[in-house]
Amino acid sequence: VLVGGVPHRTIKLHEDGWAVDVIDQRQLPHAFVRVRLASVEEVARAIRDMWVRGAPLIGAAAAYGMALAARRDPSDEGLARAYATLLETRPTAVNLRWALDAVRARLTPLPPAQRAAAAYAHAAAICDDDVAACRAIGEHALPLLERARRGERLRVLTHCNAGWLATVDWGTALAPVYLMHERGLPVHVWVEETRPRNQGALTAWELGEHGVPHTLIADNAGGLLLQRGEVDVVIVGTDRTTAAGDVLNKIGTYLKALAAHAAGVPFLVAAPGSSIDFTVEHGADVPIEERSPREVTHVAGRAADGRAETVALVPEGTPAYNPAFDVTPAALVTALVTERGVCAASREGLRALYPERAA
Ligand code: MRU
Repeated sequence: VLVGGVPHRTIKLHEDGWAVDVIDQRQLPHAFVRVRLASVEEVARAIRDMWVRGAPLIGAAAAYGMALAARRDPSDEGLARAYATLLETRPTAVNLRWALDAVRARLTPLPPAQRAAAAYAHAAAICDDDVAACRAIGEHALPLLERARRGERLRVLTHCNAGWLATVDWGTALAPVYLMHERGLPVHVWVEETRPRNQGALTAWELGEHGVPHTLIADNAGGLLLQRGEVDVVIVGTDRTTAAGDVLNKIGTYLKALAAHAAGVPFLVAAPGSSIDFTVEHGADVPIEERSPREVTHVAGRAADGRAETVALVPEGTPAYNPAFDVTPAALVTALVTERGVCAASREGLRALYPERAA
């Protein structure tokens, strides 16, 4: 997708041919800055501190982290250390483990001298596959969105950022929105701000760069809009969808699923295969990341003079709790949209699309 009219991927090989080039998303939407990551430790920090974020992008970054590690120390012990360092960065998005397992499985049978080249090739393939998967999700979701439309233009509600910034390109939940826009089909997106990290600001920014009509709302406004019939369809991404179809996604997703259910509005989840975890049955069994209370007690933004600033919302010492994800039970999900097609959020639905993995 375009930033200032120039096509960008969120992650790529640096022009030096071996380091990794990512966008520092902490600085968005105020500054668009690409940074160079040159070691597995730097990649781990970038994932943990959310320079890169969004389940598919976390997976892609981890794959490149393994490549950087293999370049420095391709021994079994070196790879095991890198795997552990990367895996512990964030616990909920399963794309992290999925990508690490894929790279490790590719490298383990190879002699150490061949591992770095194979890891770079595999990381690049994960990135290309992610782009193709997101594009396919867009194509599969488009007819569902069209069917939900009740007026001249489709009115979408989304939570968090499941756009191109959360993936390598295109996004998952926003892929069909970009396709509609590209094809001249009128669409408007209600963008929830997504406290406490405000990923809605990223969504609003990337939609704006593409000229897609949108409106930023406080998270608490979503229920009212659904109740008033001002939303045709809700579409979100997922950090992990379980074998039974429960959806782990950014904190606040569950409340919107409840409100959509009450209002009779379809609630769609864009779920690439890399976000589906067939090893866990129910959402309650997935670890939910707990982040620093400071993300709740403080807010970061840009001062009038352009400086980045963090301000306190409450007196120092105010107790705060910050779970980063919640569980939307499968029963509240109208459909899952994957790169292989659309299915019910159920064991049977997922098994029909991914028989080799469900087995
Ligand atoms: O904490 P984040 O910003 O990494 O969380 C991101 C989300 O919850 C997204 O909705 C999810 O990763 C799907 S992205 C295609």
